[in-house]
Amino acid sequence: MPRLVVNGKTHDVDADPTTPLLWVLREQIGLTGTKYGCGIAQCGACTVHIDGAAVRSCSLPVNEAEGKQITTIEGLAQNGVLHPVQKAWLEHDVPQCGYCQTGMIMAVAALLTEKPKPTDADIDNTITNICRCGTFQQVRAAIHAATNA
Ligand code: FES
Ligand code: FES
Repeated sequence: MPRLVVNGKTHDVDADPTTPLLWVLREQIGLTGTKYGCGIAQCGACTVHIDGAAVRSCSLPVNEAEGKQITTIEGLAQNGVLHPVQKAWLEHDVPQCGYCQTGMIMAVAALLTEKPKPTDADIDNTITNICRCGTFQQVRAAIHAATNA
């Protein structure tokens, strides 16, 4: 029975060790902010943090997340205060349909931890999440705004 630490809380889940983390988060733990898009690590809708790094949870067996700190979009704000990326997203009206956005925000938050002042090239190389609404220009503007917050 895998034991997971998600957003600071421990969960013993009844799942086969090879089950993708995404399904355990959504269907067993009930954290549905993380989305399913492609299921093959291409779109980024399912991005969460594992020990602070962005990981596509549709393609990570749950047993590989054991013993690590998992953070989902529900755990990004701290003590009721939105993360700077979330604030920038609101100020720049980034989301359109919103479906890709939780994964996008998690990917960006991890990037800014690693590179607090990313260049456009850094953004293009790292934020490979797919947005069918085409919010890429707003995403870039909001990232730069978040770095100046
Ligand atoms: S659902 Fe995981 S990358 Fe698309
Ligand atoms: S906001 Fe609609 S898919 Fe990105």
